[in-house]
Amino acid sequence: MVTRIGILTSGGDCAGLNAVMRAVTYRAIQGYGWEVIGIKHSTEGLFKTPVDFETFTLERFDGSVFRRGGTILGSTNKGNPFAYQLPDGTVKDKTKDIIKNIKSLKMESLIVVGGDGSMDIMNQLSKMGDFHFIGVPKTIDNDLGVTEKSIGFSTAVGVATEALDRLQPTAASHDRVMVLEVMGRDAGHIALTSGIAGGADIILIPEIPYKLEHIAAKIKEINERGRNFALVVVAEAVKTAEGEKAMIRDQSGRTRYGGIGHYLADKLSEITGAETRCTVLGHVQRGGQPDANDRVLASALGVHAVDLIAEGKFNRMVAWQNRKVVDVPIEEAIATYQDVDVNSTLVRTARGLGICLGDESTAGSVLQKVEQR
Ligand code: F6P
Repeated sequence: MVTRIGILTSGGDCAGLNAVMRAVTYRAIQGYGWEVIGIKHSTEGLFKTPVDFETFTLERFDGSVFRRGGTILGSTNKGNPFAYQLPDGTVKDKTKDIIKNIKSLKMESLIVVGGDGSMDIMNQLSKMGDFHFIGVPKTIDNDLGVTEKSIGFSTAVGVATEALDRLQPTAASHDRVMVLEVMGRDAGHIALTSGIAGGADIILIPEIPYKLEHIAAKIKEINERGRNFALVVVAEAVKTAEGEKAMIRDQSGRTRYGGIGHYLADKLSEITGAETRCTVLGHVQRGGQPDANDRVLASALGVHAVDLIAEGKFNRMVAWQNRKVVDVPIEEAIATYQDVDVNSTLVRTARGLGICLGDESTAGSVLQKVEQR
């Protein structure tokens, strides 16, 4: 009987997911002569009986698919089998159903392309149901600790950087302070990286508490130097000056980050008198073509995931460390969260460039240090 493996994409989509599927399919079919099935809509496909899947062929991935954003399989971040939300709002444990359906597929292993939440759920299920899986890290937030890079991050940073490239000329033309709100959930990686790449004057991340007066001082300093505009990048999880989270509540009562950019634009206008505008980049950061970095990362991680199955190594996550692909036990992968290290190279780089991170106005602190000498 031909060995069968499965793949699904779980949680929020990002650029590079189709490139992982292509790598997995190419390696499994060409390298090992296996069959590959793609489960539709993450756990939603696994709840259906029979399971909703598609058999992948080499031809499916010839040409354009791996260049496209999104996921041809579909995804969801609502299909938690431990607390599955029914249409009437009640919650049901569907773990038995899902395990039965996974086992019915008779897969050697399932490859789960997801973030820490999806991997945690799959890890618990695999223990309960005695089946194998391999994790492939994807998230624009880049907050998985054991991998230096997650699929989707590079493209998201590119999109945010391009937004700053586009905001700078219009900011200069209209003498404005432009605030760009970017995603990243509880980590400031997208804000910090794109802010450096895109020439931001001020970058606010949740890991570094800020004071409005420091930001205002930085804007004043820029004006005094004769520049008429400023660029501010703020990560969505940054709190208000009063320490409150900026959240949006949808009709079902679920909350998500949103609003800090507009809050900041209003406050800065009030304090500095500058004309401000806010751009919320939102899901633009997730869609679109994967850049070259994400395509290469997705390819390397996808090939390694299949090779692990061939070696009989399971319940591991593939990761990128020190310029190469490695694999680590899944428990280790989900236990290590990585937000921005406030002493990291990028934080020091930002400070070195004179970028204000909100905890000091930077120029002031440099002057103070000079005076103290
Ligand atoms: O985790 C990825 C992410 O894009 C976060 O950066 C963001 O906060 C969240 O997902 C948005 O989720 P949704 O697609 O449910 O609005």
